[in-house]
Amino acid sequence: MLKIEKLSVSYGDTQVIWDVDIEVKEGEVVTLLGPNGAGKTTLMKTICGLVPAKSGGITFLGEDLLKINPWDRPKKGVVLIPEGRKLFGKMTVEENLTIAAWKEEGKKETLEWIYDTLPRLAERRKQLAGTMSGGEQQMCAIARGIMAQPKLLMLDEPSLGLAPLIVEQVFDLIQKLQERGITVFFVEQFVEQSLKIASRGYLLEGGRIVLHEDSKSMLNNDYVRQVYLGIA
Ligand SMILES: Nc1ncnc2c1ncn2[C@@H]1O[C@H](COP(=O)(O)OP(=O)(O)OP(=O)(O)O)[C@@H](O)[C@H]1O
Ligand SMILES: [Mg+2]
Repeated sequence: MLKIEKLSVSYGDTQVIWDVDIEVKEGEVVTLLGPNGAGKTTLMKTICGLVPAKSGGITFLGEDLLKINPWDRPKKGVVLIPEGRKLFGKMTVEENLTIAAWKEEGKKETLEWIYDTLPRLAERRKQLAGTMSGGEQQMCAIARGIMAQPKLLMLDEPSLGLAPLIVEQVFDLIQKLQERGITVFFVEQFVEQSLKIASRGYLLEGGRIVLHEDSKSMLNNDYVRQVYLGIA
């Protein structure tokens, strides 16, 4: 579905992504791991067109994504839920959700699915988004991404700054997205939990993919265990 080939990205003269190859197949959940500053956010932004590619290619369902305007990419089915919540605080939960639904077809059913899956949002549909708790706002931000009816949903650290119970809900939600047929590519700091719900993982360090394996092998990989799981 998503094919990234030999991708390099620079900010001015500073190159931060080097020859990255990544593939995400339809229906998969794939995680992108790596330390702070590795280039994870940059990579996600490049897929969405918020940062230009320096060289290399990105195709989505066979189409050259780099030739599609950033604002048209969600219509192709590529949606990013960026780091931080960025909701419209003075609008209600429901307004935040419906504003993201760019097509009428499937809109009602998607909203119903969100309210069934996240009853907390249903209870608060008339509340101003800015007055909700951090966890509720994050769920609303993810739900807003779902309202765009993505084929590929990318999430950049969706559980950042959330309490453990809410983190669990975020991971549950990602699994439900897969059941709904949405392909997921996500960045998370919780390595073990991420590899448990993903089928494969990519490890990005210093802008390069240093490891790419199925999740089970990655969980058993000595380097991953020592450096990312703190298990000797
Ligand atoms: N707009 C920018 N201009 C210049 N350099 C940038 C810009 N955005 C990011 N960088 C640099 O690019 C590198 C990768 O940053 P990026 O945000 O992609 O990392 P990350 O893996 O998402 O890190 P984190 O885990 O902290 O979110 C860093 O060295 C960062 O300082
Ligand atoms: Mg980041």
